[in-house]
Amino acid sequence: MGKKVLSAILIMMLSIALVACGGDSKETGKDETASKTEETKETPADTTKEDETTPIGEGVEKSDIKIGVAMPTKDLQRWNQDGANMKAELEAAGYQVDLQYANNEIATQLSQVENMVTGGCDALVIASIDGSSLGTVLAKAAEAGIPVIAYDRLLMESDAVSYYATFDNYMVGTIQGEFIRDNLDLDNTDGPYNIEIFTGSPDDNNARYFYGGAMDVLKPYIDSGKLVVPSGQKRFEEVATLNWSTEEAQKRMENLITAYYAGGTKLDAVLSSNDSVANGITNALLGAGYEADDFPILTGQDCDITSVKNIINGTQSMSIFKDTRTLASQVVKMVNAIVEGKEVPVNDTETYDNGVVVVPTYLCEPVFADINNYKELLIDSGYYTEDQLK
Ligand code: BGC
Repeated sequence: MGKKVLSAILIMMLSIALVACGGDSKETGKDETASKTEETKETPADTTKEDETTPIGEGVEKSDIKIGVAMPTKDLQRWNQDGANMKAELEAAGYQVDLQYANNEIATQLSQVENMVTGGCDALVIASIDGSSLGTVLAKAAEAGIPVIAYDRLLMESDAVSYYATFDNYMVGTIQGEFIRDNLDLDNTDGPYNIEIFTGSPDDNNARYFYGGAMDVLKPYIDSGKLVVPSGQKRFEEVATLNWSTEEAQKRMENLITAYYAGGTKLDAVLSSNDSVANGITNALLGAGYEADDFPILTGQDCDITSVKNIINGTQSMSIFKDTRTLASQVVKMVNAIVEGKEVPVNDTETYDNGVVVVPTYLCEPVFADINNYKELLIDSGYYTEDQLK
């Protein structure tokens, strides 16, 4: 269907949204960069997104509107859930859906999104593999008047990104840092405690927020000597894990154990930005003979089934719970608003600078699951059945 309609309305709607929601990002209590630590990159942009995308138009049946949903990989449980939830919710709202997974291959995702643009999709929802790699195809989407919503991960270096919906990534990091601080009781004990640091993929903008949020909590204790990093590996580049790979994390942890912990040095905590990385760390620790009783505090994110089982058996301490149902519903609300020419719900218009524009964002709030609350959070809420966690 044609898309060259009513672009002025969307510009007007966006202006209203920006005015209405301008102050909300302050509530997240974070800086405009991923972190206040020096290690974190800054990508200043001097403009807030002025939208040139086109609403889908009035008088069009939703069944004539096709939404392209590009997901990075089926390898991680979360993206399967994200994709399935998005498809189900969009279809329930009446839309056609083109859902694609790219096997973590940038070139595959590029051609999938290109096909969505040329194949008649009216709006795109993209969870990127490498947020900076889709510029050319996003420009084509913009030319065709197709609105683009960045899903979970920000699309970088492009002015063709209309909106962004995610969980508060900086808060994910601070919750992980606070969990380590509180469980080692850093404010009331002398230490020192040994910690190692792992974060995510350097091509994923989120990883810098996770790392930055956690380091903003932990760095003062590292600076004062209460937390010690025996490997000395602290900078983002040193602790990143390409593709969030379990195998890479396992290899790095094995090397750290051999090099720094072989003589009986106690490992008190490991910061891990997500579950796939935490699983690699757990494998390495188990392989080196650690048992649940002497496991370090180990953080994670996503509440993947393997990790929740590890929380239950004592080989992982916590995992950030980002209910994928919440994010999918939020994105469907965004799509509906765009299609219906209504104000698009956002609550942060300051934080997510993609290097070219500040993208209007809806931030959902993350929480953490641990041994004390996982039943309530994950089973009582219907996210998992008890059987799935056995
Ligand atoms: C997501 C995390 C996920 C990670 C690896 C990040 O962008 O926010 O939830 O664990 O990617 O897929």
